[in-house]
Amino acid sequence: MPSEPFYDPLRSYEENYRRGPFGAFTAPAQPAAAAVASSPRSRFLGLPVALPLGIPAGPLLNANFVRAALQHGFNLPVYKTVRTHAHASHAWPNVLPVQVEGDLLPSAGRLIAGAVYSDPLSITNSFGVPSFDPDVWQPDMAAAAASAGSGQVVIGSFQGTKSENGSVDAYIADFVLGARLVKETGVRVVEVNLSCPNEGTANLLCFDVARTQRIVEAIKTVLGNTPLVIKIAYFPDDEALLHLLRAVGHTADAISAINTISAEVVDARGGQALPGEGRLRSGVCGAAIRWAGLEMTGRLKALRERLGMRFEIVGVGGVTTPADYAAYRKAGADAVMSAAGAMWNPSLAQEIAVQSFRETDSVMARQSAAAPREEPAHAR
Ligand SMILES: Cc1cc2nc3c(=O)[nH]c(=O)nc-3n(C[C@H](O)[C@H](O)[C@H](O)COP(=O)(O)O)c2cc1C
Repeated sequence: MPSEPFYDPLRSYEENYRRGPFGAFTAPAQPAAAAVASSPRSRFLGLPVALPLGIPAGPLLNANFVRAALQHGFNLPVYKTVRTHAHASHAWPNVLPVQVEGDLLPSAGRLIAGAVYSDPLSITNSFGVPSFDPDVWQPDMAAAAASAGSGQVVIGSFQGTKSENGSVDAYIADFVLGARLVKETGVRVVEVNLSCPNEGTANLLCFDVARTQRIVEAIKTVLGNTPLVIKIAYFPDDEALLHLLRAVGHTADAISAINTISAEVVDARGGQALPGEGRLRSGVCGAAIRWAGLEMTGRLKALRERLGMRFEIVGVGGVTTPADYAAYRKAGADAVMSAAGAMWNPSLAQEIAVQSFRETDSVMARQSAAAPREEPAHAR
């Protein structure tokens, strides 16, 4: 595991924004691997992509991070979730390693935060979805979108903010404004975060199906032909997932799953690990949630078939090796994304590209060797 991740948890969010990315993301990618990663062989939401692999919303704070991700073969980078107005980050620290034995279940008890990032890598993150004003992020997101090369697509993520007087109409209007502002930047695909676990609310928006449906339909009206990805959490209950899909599965163009799984995180003495009100619980990601991302991918695929729907599936959660990428694709993911894994291994996309193209080429070679040869015309 490289010593310096491209987002450095030892620095504040603001310093990462100003001075990042760090580590290997500051160096140019290996030219041969970059070339492998950029020849379009696949499609995502109708757009040509070399390898349908990206970094989900969060770790790519601005255009500098997105450019580095593109150069390192992450062809589907998501520009971090923004809001319609400035919003400060939670206090530092925002990322800590956590000790998890095996799979993290939604019902898990308290986790202990460690000091060392080691394999199998699991972390907690808690930022509170900070954002600059649109005056700042719109031109930056536009620059990020414009840096996509052949076979690459930049995705812009946003979310609405609850109004102080609790008005639902104002909340929905904020989502609509956010969608319009993100679309104006020229990103080819827009993602809405319906599953933020660090908002200090007990329940996630995507579990409120009626409200989610109103929001997704309102956003889609503004977006028109620009594809919409909805980012959802792990649904323990298949009936609840079915209910959500019936409500929004025809409107959303893709479903990205999963966001982090929320857990209580304490330090070695049993005290709250992250400072401040409402931060005893925070989102956990990395290896410990891979099972949940894979399971959701399989369930989304099965339900899509059962309901005769066409949304694409973005598999997220615990992707840290080429084998994880392959497992997600096998489970039915049309695209795969890695956050924690990519942060600590910026060469991950190149490793996956080499492995995946080697496999595709050997299948094609086997198929063409097995296919009956066409006789030359003069021999007939
Ligand atoms: C540093 C960090 C920040 C994140 N911020 C966001 C965010 O702003 N919006 C969002 O939808 N998900 C956010 N996430 C969640 C990731 O997009 C992803 O769903 C989750 O980390 C699971 O993937 P992983 O196991 O590969 O890390 C963040 C994750 C990390 C590690």
